[in-house]
Amino acid sequence: MPVTATALAHPNIALVKYWGKRDVALNLPAVPSLSLTLDGYRTRTEVTWGVEQDEVVFGGQPVVDRKIARVLDLLDPDRPGVRVVTDNDFPTGAGLASSASGFAALVVAAAAASGRDLSLEALSVLARRGSGSACRSLYGGFVAWRMGERADGTDSHGVPVADEGHWDVRMVVALASEARKAVGSTEGMARSRDTSPLWPSWLAGGERDVAEARQAVLDRDLERLGTVMERSTFAMHGTMTSATPPLLYWQPASVALLHEVFALRARGIGAWATMDAGPQVKVLCLRADADAVAEALAPHALRVVVHGPGPGARLVT
Ligand code: PMV
Repeated sequence: MPVTATALAHPNIALVKYWGKRDVALNLPAVPSLSLTLDGYRTRTEVTWGVEQDEVVFGGQPVVDRKIARVLDLLDPDRPGVRVVTDNDFPTGAGLASSASGFAALVVAAAAASGRDLSLEALSVLARRGSGSACRSLYGGFVAWRMGERADGTDSHGVPVADEGHWDVRMVVALASEARKAVGSTEGMARSRDTSPLWPSWLAGGERDVAEARQAVLDRDLERLGTVMERSTFAMHGTMTSATPPLLYWQPASVALLHEVFALRARGIGAWATMDAGPQVKVLCLRADADAVAEALAPHALRVVVHGPGPGARLVT
């Protein structure tokens, strides 16, 4: 008899960035990272275990997705056919971490539908195989991703730093473009590693930045956290723009948004920016400042959405 389970997960935004793999097949990171799980956007995934043949429906359209099949194979190499029905309530593949919420929801639903009772750590390891950053979306709030030491990657997973109730910050997401990104993160990371002269200094800064961000989270010190977040963002984009050929994920609106964040700070509003492998600008601030930040960003953006800290991936009944 086929068994169905449904899960929800939210994207996470890295405050200290993951950029670089020490093992591409296993998605093992070259640097540690630290993120915030968001409460607004979500992926909803329904998995039916034990159907005739594999089927993936994404946003109402049938698709072929080898990564999903591979993660299901890792869960059970002798598995039956599996039907996956998934949708996002936000743009996909545009630097909004849709793969993170996607694989986090997939592993939670698939483990339940297949009758496996896996620990959060084991689920995080499995999600990592689909998309590295997905290992952080298993947990809510502030989450670190430890690099791990084992060759098989079983100790490289998300680690909770502080849950979603710890600190009521806001992440104001300003959409600069809804186009799908031209160069995916795996290819972009490889190009940065292979050609950027800044790569060694990028690798050297990871541990320090995560340690500092972790302490800033525990101390609820926004200025310290925002400062390390911006430093990590611009160092990562430094490896991208100094690659050959250069990787420039920014659009004109992204630059206008960054300047607006600096102008907010000059006016005494605590706001710090981060960007991923896409044009969107995400701004960290206190809840009390979120409306002022959103208002300042709005003229430069297609849309502005304010997020709080969100929960980890979970089953819905
Ligand atoms: O896990 P991926 O392949 O989606 O890579 C994510 C890379 C960044 O978003 C740029 C940084 C991060 O830590 O999320």
